[in-house]
Amino acid sequence: VVSQTELHWAGASKALTEVPRDINGNKGKFGHVLILGGGYGKAGAPSMASLAALRAGAGLVTAAVPREILPTVASIAPELMLEPLGHETEGLSLELLEEEKLGSLLKGIKVVGIGPGLGQEGTTPEFVRGFVERVTLPMVIDADALNALAGHTSLLRDVVKKAEMAGKPRTIVLTPHPGEMARLAGMTVKEVEADRIGLARRFATEHGVTLVLKGWRTLIAHPDGRIAVNTAGNPAMAKGGSGDILTGIVTAMLGQHPDDVARAVESAVFLHGLAGDFATLVQEEHTVLATDTVGHLYEAFRSRV
Ligand code: APR
Ligand code: MG
Repeated sequence: VVSQTELHWAGASKALTEVPRDINGNKGKFGHVLILGGGYGKAGAPSMASLAALRAGAGLVTAAVPREILPTVASIAPELMLEPLGHETEGLSLELLEEEKLGSLLKGIKVVGIGPGLGQEGTTPEFVRGFVERVTLPMVIDADALNALAGHTSLLRDVVKKAEMAGKPRTIVLTPHPGEMARLAGMTVKEVEADRIGLARRFATEHGVTLVLKGWRTLIAHPDGRIAVNTAGNPAMAKGGSGDILTGIVTAMLGQHPDDVARAVESAVFLHGLAGDFATLVQEEHTVLATDTVGHLYEAFRSRV
């Protein structure tokens, strides 16, 4: 049994965002982030993740998406850069994991957010596992990229251990909703919800990852066993797209604060919820869209908690 006193408040980490951006800073300093996802009928997810990454302060954002949806994703913001990655109905080929191809895709990239709208076509799940194995950049793993790891979570533990032994520790952040968590942990959603704190802590410590278990009162479990609870957010956010926006915010915060992973992730989760809370002040919880919350991120950043 975990006592309340073992939890800390995610909102405290917002202090990280309350110092002004380095006056000398340039776009390189604030991180070039890559959002990798998208698929047939799912251009919106990587678009929303990319938009949120732009609004959360990333220096540069590139979206790597199937060629066919590239124009659609591009239309979300002219600030966004794009890289074609396979074709929408085929899934991602394992050839994309070749050293030269990966090298050119990841040139200059500081952190990767993988999964929004990715789908599970063809060899996509295998591609994801190969990507997690080969790419040592900090990464945020969401949606179908999490589903690709279900039944293969020992891979996480192995790559984290290997990196640790090589003296180059890895940063891996998983952002499952309870359904994705259930698939990852090989249990039912009911079992996940019955002991969110215990499960999140066990999973994070056993695999050496940061686990963001979403839902009302999202938990952030760190690899050292500490757990933060998010108090911001509301049911207006229980709508498709909210999770993709969180992925973009977490990825952008990691790009800006690569050496402060715990606070970067906690503040991202809190800012996401707070933006949703600000959105309901001017709209109303039925009518708020996930993309509307992005328009309130500035208030979340600006507010002092
Ligand atoms: N209170 C506070 N926050 C909430 C609430 C609530 N009642 N309901 C949802 N949220 C927040 C969650 O904490 C999370 O940050 O909204 C976000 C929802 O994320 P997801 O469940 O991942 O939803 P999303 O990705 O936008 O849409 C669902 O994602 O993973 C895929 O297969 C899944 O297609 C589905 C899609
Ligand atoms: Mg999701």
